[in-house]
Amino acid sequence: MKHVAVVGASGAVGERMIALLEERDFPLASIRFLASERSAGKTITFRGESHPIRPLSPEAFEGVEIVLSSTPASVSRQWSPIAARAGAVVVDNSSAFRMEPEVPLVVPEVNPADILKHRGIIANPNCSTIQMVVALKPLHDAARVLRVVVSTYQSVSGAGQKGIHELEEQAAAVHRGETPPSPSKFAHPILGNCIPQIDDFLPTGYTKEEMKMVHETRKILGDPTIDVSPTCVRVPVAFSHSESILVETERPVTVDEARALWEQAPGITVVDDPLARSYPLAAAAAGRDDVFVGRIRPDLGRPNALLFWCVSDNLRKGAATNAVQIAEKLVELAPVGV
Ligand SMILES: NC(=O)c1ccc[n+]([C@@H]2O[C@H](COP(=O)([O-])OP(=O)(O)OC[C@H]3O[C@@H](n4cnc5c(N)ncnc54)[C@H](OP(=O)(O)O)[C@@H]3O)[C@@H](O)[C@H]2O)c1
Repeated sequence: MKHVAVVGASGAVGERMIALLEERDFPLASIRFLASERSAGKTITFRGESHPIRPLSPEAFEGVEIVLSSTPASVSRQWSPIAARAGAVVVDNSSAFRMEPEVPLVVPEVNPADILKHRGIIANPNCSTIQMVVALKPLHDAARVLRVVVSTYQSVSGAGQKGIHELEEQAAAVHRGETPPSPSKFAHPILGNCIPQIDDFLPTGYTKEEMKMVHETRKILGDPTIDVSPTCVRVPVAFSHSESILVETERPVTVDEARALWEQAPGITVVDDPLARSYPLAAAAAGRDDVFVGRIRPDLGRPNALLFWCVSDNLRKGAATNAVQIAEKLVELAPVGV
């Protein structure tokens, strides 16, 4: 039984982590909910009891063994080390520590053993990266992945509660026959649009989100030689990210072999009967924990390349589910004094 704190409890990821702790019957000795001063006075009902949301403070971590954190990176950079120094293990959803060499970056289906290398902080990867590496892992083990070309179709909830509200407000205004409010979270109106920009641009022409997919994929799969060519796009979908992926492997993998590998892999559901119009869909994946793959087909020119479509709920497996799974593994692998 663990003493747990959820930091960022009022956020889009925080809400899902709380729901998952309830759904998965996490072994809790106690739980507390933390966020910013803005949430002061709000309460959260958990396992039938009402709990206040408290502001972050050093005292808030006293006696806490596991922190599930989902705040902006700047907040995590300040507070996660404070929680770790107070004796907790922090599972952090933000990008603050992901590429620190001494911080494990973990997807439990891919590199669970890295959990035990932690020194107080374990990073949860970027949502687009998590679903992609879950799908790549069986192919990498069987035939070594050399190169990945990925285009993402990322939902607005990837930008948190404000991203969801921005799409809802624009849709509601159009429904009323009014001019939609100007965008604030996204660079352009998201309603009726696809925006090929997530996060800021770098001088190379790639965005920070795209470079997360490059660096985090290599770190999680433990192979710095994998080439990743990403294009990240925001689309007017509420929940679940979709990805079109071309993967090149050292030896050719047939469609049937890939399907068989995915059918045996943990955390993956194959949905692949295109003639019956059956393939992974964002709306169907929302609220689910698996990574869904389909539209599996050979490349038209290269014998060692496959294409597929990959969908997962960014707030669940892309964030909250992965974080709670890490906490569960932590308890399983190091039951005393995590
Ligand atoms: N959304 C996704 O799909 C996703 C996926 C993977 C990773 N992540 C990462 O997870 C983190 C949270 O994302 P989100 O989508 O849940 O965002 P969100 O909906 O905007 O929630 C942010 C949370 O952080 C809290 N917070 C903000 N500033 C704070 C401060 N100064 N002190 C204490 N708490 C503060 C907020 O509390 P108040 O409500 O009190 O302001 C809220 O609970 C981000 O780092 C994000 O990059 C998100």
